Amino acid sequence: MNQILGTFRDSCTNVINETSTPADIVRRLAPVMGELAKVADDFLEPAHRRSDPNGYARNLIFAAEDDTLSLFSLVWTPGQWTPIHDHGTWGVVGVAEGLLEEQAFMRIDDSAAKPRNTGIELAPGGLVLLPPGAVSTFVPNPDHIHETGVASDRPETLSLHLYGRRLNNFHVYDRQAGTRRLIEAHYKET
Ligand SMILES: [Fe+2]
Repeated sequence: MNQILGTFRDSCTNVINETSTPADIVRRLAPVMGELAKVADDFLEPAHRRSDPNGYARNLIFAAEDDTLSLFSLVWTPGQWTPIHDHGTWGVVGVAEGLLEEQAFMRIDDSAAKPRNTGIELAPGGLVLLPPGAVSTFVPNPDHIHETGVASDRPETLSLHLYGRRLNNFHVYDRQAGTRRLIEAHYKET
């Protein structure tokens, strides 16, 4: 593994081992991600830069064997968006190139008392635009729900996504139907 990535992974592992809550983990790892995003050119390989004409590309950079950590590079060509989704874990996102948009949603049904897949009401929350070097974070319980992507009139974007698990599945929300379902999330090994 590239030395920059090795040092980053060791820093993340130390923070996870020393830190008790997801909120504390993302607070400590946000500046570490900010530094990583600034030197992305020094460790990104061609496989990390793969895009996909059919949708945003998820390229796995590394994952811990005990499923406590994973880092992906996501490549967004203009006009590519996620569905509305959650994560089931904490996350730290850093932008290396382009401009990433995140639209948050809040559950306004009584989901906290009754976790369920129907009867879900979502209201739009805040929106952030993340230029190179910017970092955003989220924590679970309740799940952070958002829609992320790149507008069609903006440049191709590459972002780094660190999660507290491999994130090979997550809930996708249908706002009109008021439902969510768990989907398998595909990614490319690198
Ligand atoms: Fe997300």
